[in-house]
This record gives sequence, C-alpha cells and structure tokens, in this order.
Amino acid sequence: MSVKKIGVITSGGDAPGMNAAVRAVVRQGICLGYEMIGVRRGFKGLLDDDFITLTHRSVSGIINIGGTILHTGRCPETKTAAGLNRAVKTIKELCISGLIIIGGDGSLAAGNALSKHGVKVVNIPASIDNDIFGTDETIGYDTALNTAVKAIDNIRDTAASHDRIFVVEIMGREHGFLTVDVGLAAGCEYIIVPEMKPNIKKIAEELKEGKSRGKTSEIIAFAEGCGSSAEFAKDITKLTGFDVRVSNLGYIQRGGTPTARTRILASKFGHIAMDCFNKGKVNILVGIKDGQLSTTPIDVALKQTKKFDTQTVKVLTNLSV
Ligand code: F6P
Repeated sequence: MSVKKIGVITSGGDAPGMNAAVRAVVRQGICLGYEMIGVRRGFKGLLDDDFITLTHRSVSGIINIGGTILHTGRCPETKTAAGLNRAVKTIKELCISGLIIIGGDGSLAAGNALSKHGVKVVNIPASIDNDIFGTDETIGYDTALNTAVKAIDNIRDTAASHDRIFVVEIMGREHGFLTVDVGLAAGCEYIIVPEMKPNIKKIAEELKEGKSRGKTSEIIAFAEGCGSSAEFAKDITKLTGFDVRVSNLGYIQRGGTPTARTRILASKFGHIAMDCFNKGKVNILVGIKDGQLSTTPIDVALKQTKKFDTQTVKVLTNLSV
C-alpha cells in the first residue's frame, strides 16, 4: 500500500510560532503514518514545484525560532482560476491527499478556494493581527503583543524624559485587535483603532487638560488601519501646540522568539489539525474558543467578522487618568 502524503504550507505574512506549528503538524502526521511534504514560499511553491520532504529531524530545533523554515509569501495567483487549476494539478501529480495551511485571512481564502476545487484542507490560524473569526487567538499574536509592549516601555522612558507625546503605530492591517491589547498592557493613554472613530478635537482638549493637571508625557497607540500616524500627530500638534513624535514599530512586531504561550498554541493547533485531517474532518479552520480547542468550517469563518472588544477600550480609558 502506498504511503499517504500531506502537504504543509506557511503562507501570507510570517508570524512567530509558525515553525512550532510546522513541527507539530509534521511530527503528528508522521505518527499517523503520513509522508509529509513541505511546500516552500507559500502557495507559490505549488505553482513553481518547490517542495521538500519533511522528517522528524527536519523539524528539530525550530520550536524556538521566529519566521518560518518553509519561507512564505503572498500569492495573488490563488485568486485566479488559472492559478488555482495549476495548484490543483500539482497536488494531483504529487499524489498529495490534502493540505495543512498555516497563515492568516489570505491563507484562509486560498484554502477555501482550493477546497471548492476538491482539495482537502485544514487551516491553522497564524497572524500577528489576531483578526480571524473562529479563534480567540492566532499563532504569533501573543509574541507580537509582548514585542510591541516591550518597545513601548522603551519609548515611555524617552517620552517621560523629554516631556513628549508619542504616537506609536502598530500593525494589524484593517483591525485594531493588536493595538487595543498593546495599549492596555503598555498603559497607553489613548488607542486609535479602525473599529472606533476617534474624536481628535476631544483628544486634543484632554491632552491640554492633562498637561494642566501635571501630566508631562502621553502615549497614543495608533493602529496602522487608521491611516497615517504622521498626519494624526501633525493634527494633534496643530490643535495643542505640543511636541508630538511618531514611532512606527513596523516589522519588529513580526519577528523574534515565540513566547511560550505562542508555542503552546501552535503545538496544539498543529496536533489537532493533523488529527482532524486523519479523521476526515476537513475544510475547517482549527482554533481556540474560551480555552477549548475548536473547529469552524472555512466558509463560515470567512463570512464572519471577529467581534471587536470595546470593553477593553473602556478599561483603558478609565485607567488613563
Ligand atoms: O498580516 C500581518 C501583517 O504584518 C499586517 O499587520 C500588515 O499590515 C501586513 O502584514 C504587512 O504585509 P507585508 O509583509 O506584505 O508588508
């Protein structure tokens, strides 16, 4: 009897913990009797025939490493019929019985499209943005959160020393999930997120009022999805006359050693993803809800938008006096 093969892909923006997930998928897959094929550079690997056989040993010593050993990328071809047909053809030629896809919302959409072409897929949510419906947390989120908080701790030192206001730009694409948690954990005075329209005049008034009460420095966490942090800072300067600086945390949020929490989540997701696949439970997204591992049909996850937690914003606002 021929050995069943499964492909594993990391796709979209890298997230710390992708390697821990690859390790878990590969080791559990081998344990269940599969041959594991790594598709390199995201879905592009399916178009360019860029593969690698993964063994127990090829995933040794990677649980603690950020990025992805498989490399990743965004692949617009998965949105075209020609690209999808090419990917399906490759999967058939290689006799791959399905794919485990580790990535964010773009990877979910690609997984859905492939499933409509008859490919069995299981998606594992991995993105620093934590913006995927069907899971309370994505792989990489906790690590990015800690990285951003540490960076803002550093910024606070210089803000306090110079009596300055800082606008700190945080990743998250068109959502503010990362920004709101970073803001609360770093003790920021304001958060600006796409989910809640800011009242800039009110903020300016409060900043002036804060100064009159003896507040000498403030930090505003600004989600990249709200537009230009530089323009926002200029507007605050115009309205207050204060010295406002901008710091864009940028790609440092995507790299670095995954936290223990991220590694645990990635290991559990990888393990359950392979188990689900083996039991024929496919075309799903694995996730965690209220502390329990869960699964959601991919098309359901794609149609829904994750709920934004306005309660956290209220807590932050009440505490930033
Ligand atoms: O989705 C992860 C993310 O880092 C977003 O926060 C950000 O908007 C985007 O990727 C940046 O993408 P790229 O790597 O293509 O510049």
